[in-house]
Amino acid sequence: MKWPDRAPAGHFAYVNGRYLPHIHAAVHIEDRGLQFGDSIYEVFRVETGHFLDEAGHLDRLEGSLAALGLSMPVTRAALRLIMRELVRRNRIHDGLLYLQITRGAFRRDHLMPDGPSKPTLILTARASDPAAATSRLACGVKIITRPDERWARRDIKTTQLLPAVLAKTAAKREGASEAWLVDSEGFVTEGGSTNGWIVDAAGTLITRPLSRAILPGVTRATVLAAAKEAGLPVVERKFTVAEALASREAFLTSASGAAVPVVAINGESVGGGRPGPLTLQLQALYDAKSGRRSG
Ligand SMILES: Cc1ncc(COP(=O)(O)O)c(C=O)c1O
Repeated sequence: MKWPDRAPAGHFAYVNGRYLPHIHAAVHIEDRGLQFGDSIYEVFRVETGHFLDEAGHLDRLEGSLAALGLSMPVTRAALRLIMRELVRRNRIHDGLLYLQITRGAFRRDHLMPDGPSKPTLILTARASDPAAATSRLACGVKIITRPDERWARRDIKTTQLLPAVLAKTAAKREGASEAWLVDSEGFVTEGGSTNGWIVDAAGTLITRPLSRAILPGVTRATVLAAAKEAGLPVVERKFTVAEALASREAFLTSASGAAVPVVAINGESVGGGRPGPLTLQLQALYDAKSGRRSG
């Protein structure tokens, strides 16, 4: 198979017990992850060789599996070893590790299969450019808004990502990096692959409370805890696009970038079009709290 992009020769993936050259790594065409999106995933950030917020991501992984009636294909301890071995084989210092677990390959049928489970476990890892990440954190990003057209269980990290794919692709077409998704009542749920935050005129940090409407972001939880520990005023409540446009600061959180400043929404500048002081403070607090030495 000729691989089109982003898999330089020499890269390894892990599939069901084997480390394989990325180019030869494959799953069966009847895999329920492919056929039905019957599958969950996690993304871990690796920074200077260490996994950030690792326990939080593994806890959420177990929660996603439980929500779909899937079990861990290997123990948590074994999984941590596999993650480290893949990072080592790919010589990754800074990057992202992607992990997916599907229900496995069965004759195609909507009904969940009876009998023994045979999940598919896939891991890939790729290096990221720390300079690009630093520049995003320092300069901020533009975003757009789109109707939230996803299913009703967004708290489960499943691979059913087509609405997010469409929204993020629309954002790119409009020269932006992310789309904030808006519910039928006009409130922002979250970004296509990030949680959303604003800072109001009084300096209060605002982010939507956890519910089935959003993914419980691991970075969101770490930033929230860090903000509370630092004595910053935080309120978990819904906010509208109009509030976001009038906000003093806005930012995004995800494993791939903690507290990324938002400098424009739908072409209108936010917070004077520059990263705000509270967002920059949260970046520093996140760095101190996220467990860089958890490795
Ligand atoms: C819809 C959605 N919200 C939020 C996030 C951020 O979550 P985390 O901080 O755990 O990466 C993600 C990450 O993929 C996501 O897909």
